[in-house]
Amino acid sequence: MCGIVGCIGNKQAQNYLIGGLHRLEYRGYDSAGIVTIGSDQKATLLRAKGKVSELEKLADKNKSISTIGIGHTRWATHGEPSKTNAHPHKAGDIYLVHNGIIENYKELKSELKKHKFITQTDSEVLAALIDSLYDANTTLADAVNQALKLVVGTYGIAVVSVREPDQIIVARSGSPLIIGIDDDETYIASDASALIGYTNRAIYLNDGEMAICRKNGVELRDLASQPISAQVETIEVDMQAIQKQGYNHFLLKEICEQPTTLRSTLSGRINTKDKSVLLSGLNLSSAELRKIEHVTIIGCGTAYYAGLLGSYYLEQLVDGLTIDVVAASELRYRTFHLPKNTIALVISQSGETADTLACLREIKRRGVKTLGIINAVGSTIAREVDGGVYVHAGPEISVASTKAFTSQVAAITMFGIQVAQAKGTGMQIMSKYIDELAKLPDEIEKIVSKYKDKVAKVAKRYAQYEHALYFGRDTLFPIAMEGALKLKEISYIQAEGYAAGELKHGPIALVDDAFFEVALLIDNWLFDKSLSTLEEVNARGGHIFAITNSKKEIQAEEVIRINTKLDILAPILINVVQQLFAYYMAVARGNDVDQPRNLAKSVTVE
Ligand code: G6P
Repeated sequence: MCGIVGCIGNKQAQNYLIGGLHRLEYRGYDSAGIVTIGSDQKATLLRAKGKVSELEKLADKNKSISTIGIGHTRWATHGEPSKTNAHPHKAGDIYLVHNGIIENYKELKSELKKHKFITQTDSEVLAALIDSLYDANTTLADAVNQALKLVVGTYGIAVVSVREPDQIIVARSGSPLIIGIDDDETYIASDASALIGYTNRAIYLNDGEMAICRKNGVELRDLASQPISAQVETIEVDMQAIQKQGYNHFLLKEICEQPTTLRSTLSGRINTKDKSVLLSGLNLSSAELRKIEHVTIIGCGTAYYAGLLGSYYLEQLVDGLTIDVVAASELRYRTFHLPKNTIALVISQSGETADTLACLREIKRRGVKTLGIINAVGSTIAREVDGGVYVHAGPEISVASTKAFTSQVAAITMFGIQVAQAKGTGMQIMSKYIDELAKLPDEIEKIVSKYKDKVAKVAKRYAQYEHALYFGRDTLFPIAMEGALKLKEISYIQAEGYAAGELKHGPIALVDDAFFEVALLIDNWLFDKSLSTLEEVNARGGHIFAITNSKKEIQAEEVIRINTKLDILAPILINVVQQLFAYYMAVARGNDVDQPRNLAKSVTVE
């Protein structure tokens, strides 16, 4: 979703602004813009609909040597994607970029009679509001401060003024903002990836904080204008992690690097010799772990499906544990009840998803302990949970989530093992889980290298279809839903994921020549049942592509048989095959794999 960059210092601002916006492209957007202010106090405002490369062409024609500026990538909420609606927005002497939603914008707008509104955005209202309070006796910082007291909604903002070209004012409430510090250079970004290579020292703004950023210093305040001391943290991501490194797409890179990223998730946490797990960030004593009776898992999209798969593992690992898994967008408006001795697992790659964050806050308000399973270090959810596990999968750039899923499932499983350890239950199954987790990275490595080309071939066969049905039983049910999600996100093929046993209660009516089916089967006690479902689909003229670990005979148009020693965690391997399948389908259809239409990587608005 929307991205913010800014900088002030001695270097040409345009270079960082354009470079930074390119880094934020992965978040999903539809227009972009920058403004710089010259030493003559004149502003150069450039905006373009579409890609940052369009904006870059404009910038090349309008080179500016000014050393202060702000920029934005916009993901339309209020008003269509257009050059006019693109940020920065101008009001009087100020320019503003905004992430989030100003909920009372209509009310505010009706009182701002002097400003001639030219956009349909809520953000222009905020710019006009600040301008209306910015008279000759007021500083920009004070005008921003007063305006924010009148605003209802969420925001991350950066504001500049031609009257005070020595500072950028930033503020946050619900939308992340990070200030990067270097000698004589201060950077602003809504996402740490825009700062990598420029500086690794950063201040993460908290909700209700604002800052006056100058080239050689940052002054932090709360909205009551009280000074706050800044905590400078180190960003630990390197350049390599945000580059394609020879792959055609980030998505393929992220699928292929799963052995490495999963090793980082497991590293130092599982011990295969004494068959134990230690997650040091849970902030729970053994007594507290022993007391857990119920786990509520929340997440959105792929994180939700990781939670769903994780719940099957948790209930196998911990005797008597009850679990519910709910999509955060649903839970936040439900009258839900949390039994006593509940722990909430909050799953999010970005750590910024608005619905997930809202649930976290509600659960905390009820006094229930929360644990995060988070990838993005320093993200809002990671900062607000009581404890948790960083999955350490590294930056996930492609909009469709892949490596984060695998690491999230591993983290939930390790959590289950740690609870089981504390309770002293299920020792045998625990040791099997630990052995399989330890082997999983190597197994994924084999799957990717051995089946990549075969999957690409199979994808060519199905790339012309417009409808797909994925089905699997037990642990393969969440995998079927995740497979369908991946396919629809990047290939735009209508895809549904179903529990195989539910097929005859409706979806089997869909089977015809316009559909193909992805059947997921594991050679376990449910194999014969899964085979029956497959036969039923075949009998109705289905076009089945089966993915299995079984050597037994399977009637299907295409079969990929993975050869693996894993048993309980085999669904994760089947998912890797599905990830590759979705990728090659999208490539075959000529789609924008890493930035699929209409989607955003980090959904920071409702
Ligand atoms: C968006 C992304 C999905 C992701 C979901 C949850 O919809 O496009 O790929 O699974 O958000 O994101 P999170 O960062 O909370 O895991």
